[in-house]
Amino acid sequence: MSNWYDAWADRYADWTESVTADVPFYVGLARDADGPLVELAVGDGRVAIPVALTTGKRVIGIDASPAMLAQARIRASEVGVELDLREGDMREFQLDEAAALIYCPGRSLLHLPTWADRRRCFERIAASLRPGGRFAWNAFTFDHHVASAIDGQHGDAPLPHTTHYSVGDNRVDIALDDGGTSSLWWATKNEWLGLLDVAGLQLEALYGGFAGEPLDDHSSEYVFVARR
Ligand SMILES: C[S@@+](CC[C@H](N)C(=O)[O-])C[C@H]1O[C@@H](n2cnc3c(N)ncnc32)[C@H](O)[C@@H]1O
Repeated sequence: MSNWYDAWADRYADWTESVTADVPFYVGLARDADGPLVELAVGDGRVAIPVALTTGKRVIGIDASPAMLAQARIRASEVGVELDLREGDMREFQLDEAAALIYCPGRSLLHLPTWADRRRCFERIAASLRPGGRFAWNAFTFDHHVASAIDGQHGDAPLPHTTHYSVGDNRVDIALDDGGTSSLWWATKNEWLGLLDVAGLQLEALYGGFAGEPLDDHSSEYVFVARR
């Protein structure tokens, strides 16, 4: 899956140019954090760079894609900020010092295929946080209407691809015309809450948007904040 991002890492910034609403949300959490900050699936630093710039704090960024990390390095140096970038899998990461905030923007947790993968990741997060430390992430709400509407559709950005919806597996595949598929395994609210439960983390807030909108029947995004 990391190879999928490797194939177009140099276009990721263009593709996500309009994705900005989450940045102030994560920056706000980072400002409140008294201790190390960790972004899981940091990608090209889209969020980590403004977090580091605005707070002046060190951000550890973990990602499985060498090409995305290379983009993060270039983009960080362009604005004169240093990120502590580490190639690795978010299911297996280890820290030398417990974190005050671990966050995972960009719906990246949906790349983890199974409950067991997510549980491993949540357990690593719980083990890596200080007491009282926070974990925040966002993900699409689970919407069959959206998945059905994009099933079989061909698109051109970031690279020519076709989308496929697997109903039974709650999975959306994005298959590049030139080969390589990335999948998103959608999860329900109760799956996320169950993961917090098994990891021993407490739900602090669940919003329907990055400005703190309440989650309701029409919300398209889960925005979670949890505490150890
Ligand atoms: C949608 S991008 C998000 C990047 C960035 N956080 C953002 O919000 O723009 C998803 C990222 O997840 C990374 N990724 C996917 N699975 C991963 C895993 N198991 N461990 C670490 N990174 C992973 C990919 O390499 C990619 O950079």
